[in-house]
Amino acid sequence: MKILIKEGHIIDPSEKLNKVGNILIEDGKVKSYPSDTKKLEKGPTIEVIDAQGMVVAPGFIDMHVHLREPGFEHKETIRTGCEAAAAGGFTSVVCMPNTNPVNDNASVTEYILLKARTEGIVNVFPIGAITKGEKGEILAEIGEMWEAGCVGISDDGCPVMNSRVMRHAMEYVKAFGIPVISHAEDIDLSGHGVMNEGFTSTVLGLRGIPNASEEVMVARDITLVELTAAHLHIAHVSTAGAVRLIRDAKKRGVRVTGEATPHHFTLTDRAILNYDTNAKVNPPIRSQKDVDAIREGLKDGTIDVIATDHAPHSEDEKKVEFDLAPFGISGLETALPLSLNLVKEGILTLPELIRKLTFNPAQIVRINRGTLRVGATADVVIFNPDKSITVDRNKFRSKGKNTPFHGWQLSGCVRYTIVGGKVVFSS
Ligand code: DOR
Repeated sequence: MKILIKEGHIIDPSEKLNKVGNILIEDGKVKSYPSDTKKLEKGPTIEVIDAQGMVVAPGFIDMHVHLREPGFEHKETIRTGCEAAAAGGFTSVVCMPNTNPVNDNASVTEYILLKARTEGIVNVFPIGAITKGEKGEILAEIGEMWEAGCVGISDDGCPVMNSRVMRHAMEYVKAFGIPVISHAEDIDLSGHGVMNEGFTSTVLGLRGIPNASEEVMVARDITLVELTAAHLHIAHVSTAGAVRLIRDAKKRGVRVTGEATPHHFTLTDRAILNYDTNAKVNPPIRSQKDVDAIREGLKDGTIDVIATDHAPHSEDEKKVEFDLAPFGISGLETALPLSLNLVKEGILTLPELIRKLTFNPAQIVRINRGTLRVGATADVVIFNPDKSITVDRNKFRSKGKNTPFHGWQLSGCVRYTIVGGKVVFSS
């Protein structure tokens, strides 16, 4: 089967491509960039996609997703999570280990990969836990998980509070060349906080989580990675201080990378003024000063990646008092239009944005994706950056309808998602 993508605006930061042109896909791979397509179009087994006015880019890679399976299939399954990813333009997702059982050994990794092969429509790359049961005490079976296919380790959802354990994890994981992804949070400082600590939490009478809760752990993990020379990736950066710490560490040559989520660079904690549990997330949505700093970090390259931290929960779980609701936002299906705002506002160019959604995450988790070079696996997204849309959570493919962006008017619509040369989503 061949696909000819015609006259699209091709943007591939990995190849420094930014031009109008054609792409031919054959046998699941990028075959060529033909200039004359007339003969090809007449072929019997070719699907022609008219991409005029659209952007054609490497399929997006979300390096921070919760697929919930095994164990929490009422929130999401590998199948529904992959469908949501495809609808959002993502051709690869990297899934976090806080499932039940936790992905802390090769059997769970193999189960996820088997399910993904049989039911998933996008590529799934698992992250293994740092510690057994994500309890922060004993290192998980990291070597076995790496052999089984894990592309990084993290106790995401829970921080590793014990610095000695974190140091050992960093020293050990170096042998496998994969990153340690830090959910940077001091749980003692967070206490029973449910939102950002500040003026809004005082007004609402809700317990706050201070910025320092994230920053002391970012500082600790940077210190530990300077000691161990591993690769540290800071997940869901939410504070100005964390951006500053990563920026300073990068200047010193420390091997640290960082990601930001669309909700953290779009919303402030005022989104909670109506006690909307759909905006309850960890780390919490912070102040305007923090949002501005994250945007600055995206602009100057301190923050390498945009990732969603897609954290689907069921409606019943979120429809409770603010204190009791679980943390998390369903993010896969709103990421592109929210991120395109950064381009509209002059913070990033379109190629810079696409790089943070493709090549950079591929480099960090070292997967052979995020490029449209000839011979590469044909994972492609085709989107219309200007088409206006209204976010409708009831139309989400994800089981998680928990979005604070329901009803928002945005621009940017995914038209085709192609994985390994097959169209898995079109609109
Ligand atoms: O808001 C969040 N939800 N933050 C996390 O770190 C975990 C995630 C979840 O698993 O629901």
